[in-house]
Amino acid sequence: MITVSDNAVFALSNRYFSYVFHVSPEGLLEHRYYGLPLSAPLDAPVHHQGTQREMTSNFEGEPYYNLTDTPQEYPIFGRSDYRAPAFHARNADGNSIFTLLYKSHTIKADKPKLDGLPSARGGGSQTLIIILEDALWGLTAKLHYTVYEDYGVLARSVVFENNGTRDINLEHVYSTALDLPPGDYEALHLHGTWAREFNAERMALPHGRFVIGSARGTSSAAHSPFLAVIDATATETHGRVYGTALVYSGNFSISTEVNEFEDVRILAGINPFNFNWTLAAGERFTTPEALHVFTQNGLGGMSHIWHDFVRDKISPPAFRHLPRPTYLNTWEAAYFDVNEGKVLTLADKAATLGVDMLVLDDGWFKGRRDDTTSLGDWTADPSRFPSGIPALAAKIKAKGLKFGLWFEPEMVNPDSDLFRAHPDWILHVPGRKSSLGRHQLTLDLSRAEVRDYLFDAIDSLLSCGDIGYVKWDMNRAMTEVGSAAFPPSQQAEVPHRYLLGLYDLLSRITNKYPDILFENCASGGNRFDLGMLSYMAQNWTSDNCDPIARLDIIHGASLVFPLDVCAAYIGPSPNHQNGRVSSIHTRYDAGAFCAAKGVSLSEADIDANLPALQRLMSHAKDTATDMVGGHFDRLIKTRNEVCWQYTSRDGETVYLAYFHILAAPNLPFRRAHVRGLDPLAEYILTEDKTRHQGDALMHSGMALPYVATGQVKADMRYMAKGDFSSHVFIFKKVSP
Ligand code: DGJ
Repeated sequence: MITVSDNAVFALSNRYFSYVFHVSPEGLLEHRYYGLPLSAPLDAPVHHQGTQREMTSNFEGEPYYNLTDTPQEYPIFGRSDYRAPAFHARNADGNSIFTLLYKSHTIKADKPKLDGLPSARGGGSQTLIIILEDALWGLTAKLHYTVYEDYGVLARSVVFENNGTRDINLEHVYSTALDLPPGDYEALHLHGTWAREFNAERMALPHGRFVIGSARGTSSAAHSPFLAVIDATATETHGRVYGTALVYSGNFSISTEVNEFEDVRILAGINPFNFNWTLAAGERFTTPEALHVFTQNGLGGMSHIWHDFVRDKISPPAFRHLPRPTYLNTWEAAYFDVNEGKVLTLADKAATLGVDMLVLDDGWFKGRRDDTTSLGDWTADPSRFPSGIPALAAKIKAKGLKFGLWFEPEMVNPDSDLFRAHPDWILHVPGRKSSLGRHQLTLDLSRAEVRDYLFDAIDSLLSCGDIGYVKWDMNRAMTEVGSAAFPPSQQAEVPHRYLLGLYDLLSRITNKYPDILFENCASGGNRFDLGMLSYMAQNWTSDNCDPIARLDIIHGASLVFPLDVCAAYIGPSPNHQNGRVSSIHTRYDAGAFCAAKGVSLSEADIDANLPALQRLMSHAKDTATDMVGGHFDRLIKTRNEVCWQYTSRDGETVYLAYFHILAAPNLPFRRAHVRGLDPLAEYILTEDKTRHQGDALMHSGMALPYVATGQVKADMRYMAKGDFSSHVFIFKKVSP
């Protein structure tokens, strides 16, 4: 997979791509090629012509060698490249001129773990480590490139070592830089906010820089840490796509830059804004990991590569192919109004519904009657949960259910025993009043004693042995990010140190409880990223459970994330976030391909819809095994229609979900062109036992139900009358 020529050309290849670079005569790493696999990658032509350009400068006076027009692997600034650099730092002379020249390389059989940071697991992989050096300041940058035999993903990260004698202040330490040749490209990224996550935006790549990122302390829903540069003509099934995502949950930046010569640069890594890290002599700094995907098969092709990789190499392995439990969650059933009696009644309802688990969401701990108080005090409220959480968990277990519990460990309310005892344990800066988000402050996870407190508090509950699931919530962005534990010169390190602390805490807890299913939540999908997914197999996709809103949210999330990691429940109607009224079936169908499914409804709502809910939860259980490890395709997305396909891992069952948003008379007849079937096999549609040939379903398509507005015809299939209708087809492959 990794080959090196005598003249220092490096090629990383597998059946998905070749990635090629070389060392220039000056010792700089120049990028050559990234695209479909080449038969002789070491001979890949150099895609730029060294030439004399006016108003550019030549690196160290070398004729025809200006770096601003040279594709590079890890670009520096101030040495004839005027684009945003991957690396920028300040040395003890006060300038920022560094030159990272090739020194040596090694090839490792697998993939080393990153220091203190989550990263994709190895296995079937090789890692090339290129050692670059700035001899003047004794700085070493080790560029890590991992290529896998079976995945179309290239993993990159950088480890810096200060082998000199003076401090180096790191400012830009991007995890990756990718310089592509000029082309007709667009950018695709995901933006959003609370309850409106994962909106896909596609736009022409502008000249200059286009930057997405976060300075909120968390990755956030404002921008997902993902961006793709795609052929302007790319569709779901065709076209070149270069996807980049970060395995990181904090302040990040991903940018594109098109310069005056149309060269394209992608940078991804820690956000350099408000970041500074003092790398003292003898110290080391590791960047988060960046992942690149290349495909020629359009956005669907990219998603398939991400999905396989995330589920096999990022998400905790214990849950890889485990069906997720169905559940009843107390949040939209009772909000903060929970007590032992009510929870036990809801547990009885859960048993009647036939679900596997009862999840006690927010509101169970000391004094927590609304969101103004008590975060940090992780013991059961004695007046409402007199027997305590372990006893409640045992009672729920006795009803034949699993028990799940909500925490928001990273936060504290000013009105809490924890804050009264340790007011300096929050992120804050001297002399400034702290800003609040949802009445709460962020604990300073860069401090070991804070992490120890949280570990003990959570451990003391999980150790009862009857808690099978934890929802790990986080409901505010950070402000006044400073730490009482670090000197003024290191305050700009605190945002990243927070993340290192969070990952340390998550590792300790999830390593101790590998069988507990952790669900990542941040007011829904406000920290839904590959860093958090490294510890948690499940994500609360959004606080918005309205099915029509969810169509866009799932569409966007599915560009990167397999629906194996997404949770969906049937929430109330009218929906509590946008007021929309929808049928219980559409509410279920919107989440039908998410692996984790449940209900969060009041007792009255459950009673009023009992037979339908029982049927739907029984369907969720019957299909739970299929909903992990399968293949998801986005077949149709217009303003008024969505059609998704989900094919089980064994290819035996094919699901089609069709959603029609606003009804209208006299609409066209629509067909969905199913993908990836066995062309010669027959597929039986379970609802009417009709037989359909694989190739016909793919090439002629499946007739979608007609939106009924008036007259109906006996031999036609109709959607439910009115707005917001849906239908799920299930096909079973006929064994030959
Ligand atoms: C935000 C989450 O997204 C909700 O599901 C719920 O857990 C609340 N927090 C509880 O405060």
